[in-house]
Amino acid sequence: MDLNKELLSFISRSPTAFHAVDSTAKALADAGFAELYETEPWSLAPGACAFVRRNDSSLIAFRVPEGEPSGLLLAAAHSDSPCFKLKENASLESDGYRRLSVEKYGGMLCAPWLDRPLSLAGRVTLREGGRLVSRLVDLARPVALIPNLAIHMDRSANEGKTYDMLKDMPPLLSLAGGRGPEALIAEALDVKEEDILSKELFLYPCTPGTVWGAENEFLSSPRLDDLQCVFGCLHGFLEAGSSGALRALCIFDNEEVGSGSKQGAGSTFLSDVLRRVFAARGLGEVDLLRCAANGLMVSADNAHAVHPNHPGEADRNERPVPNGGVVIKYNAGARYTTDSVSAALFSELCRAADVPVQRYSNRADKPGGSTLGHISLAHLSLDCIDIGLAQLAMHSCYETAGSKDTEYLVRAMRAFFSAEVRKEPEGICL
Ligand code: CO
Repeated sequence: MDLNKELLSFISRSPTAFHAVDSTAKALADAGFAELYETEPWSLAPGACAFVRRNDSSLIAFRVPEGEPSGLLLAAAHSDSPCFKLKENASLESDGYRRLSVEKYGGMLCAPWLDRPLSLAGRVTLREGGRLVSRLVDLARPVALIPNLAIHMDRSANEGKTYDMLKDMPPLLSLAGGRGPEALIAEALDVKEEDILSKELFLYPCTPGTVWGAENEFLSSPRLDDLQCVFGCLHGFLEAGSSGALRALCIFDNEEVGSGSKQGAGSTFLSDVLRRVFAARGLGEVDLLRCAANGLMVSADNAHAVHPNHPGEADRNERPVPNGGVVIKYNAGARYTTDSVSAALFSELCRAADVPVQRYSNRADKPGGSTLGHISLAHLSLDCIDIGLAQLAMHSCYETAGSKDTEYLVRAMRAFFSAEVRKEPEGICL
């Protein structure tokens, strides 16, 4: 239960991808990791532990081994979640109200966002002492809400409802004459409104996460996809014992919008960082390729649990449940990267760590999603496995998972990051 409390606190401190990366950076700094900057030269001693951010919303942390690295152990999860992003000029005034002009970030379920107190957070760039400075901001109080239309004015509201972004989704911020989002942000940052040059602001639900159920089986919170995996991978990474491999934790932004940004899994961020780490240790491109060939990447993104009200939507045999352990994902179209070798390797690590494993694949007549591993391998090819934790209501703004699974993931990732994998022509030694 303590671990879930810590997870919920991590999630509440991480209302946007920027904040999720900041929360991760703080945990790494507390554990003695040094921050490096892509704009500066790097020098890395044997055993160095460091991290680097790109765009404030993606982060790669790594642990350099004492000797020449024997391989790569990489884990990836994503910092972003579906939500609503404010337009640059967001105030909409009419009928005695001030509403916000928003657009969709990612593919969310719209209905859960209605009638729920919302707050605003994100990143702004300011003019400060002759410099352009980026700062994170979080109003951390309810300031907006998207009100439903009363049943009396929409008698068909409970029958096949659709949500029109322009008509149904603009959040209410104030009555006419109330302050606009720029004024609220300036006040929170204690700066003048005119010093805010640009901003990236997102709405997030204020509803706190909770553990619930007759036997406290469940955990519900905003952004479980994918901050539950970020948290589990981070803990496993920090708590791991020694390994001769170069180990890296990769938190990527923009998974929910296709990973195509300069900081996403589809970018060169990971390969850039690894090339620089190898160069700083006096190693070359061929050493990196040798280590990649002797490596394993875990792409961690939550998986669908069988839905109690819609059990037919799940595959016939591969039906993950909450608290059933870490889910390994499979797809014949290689949208998930799992193959028999990576599945066997990861399952053996889980067995040794006493972590139950379950399996997921999409129903054969339904196309599924894709995630980090598949996209990341275009820039750095190595054995990879897709995993996650079973959850319900994926892409709702209040998702539900099992209360025991976070610990299973931490244990699995601790075992993974402590592994010594040696791929020899005769077979793989663990
Ligand atoms: Co996800």
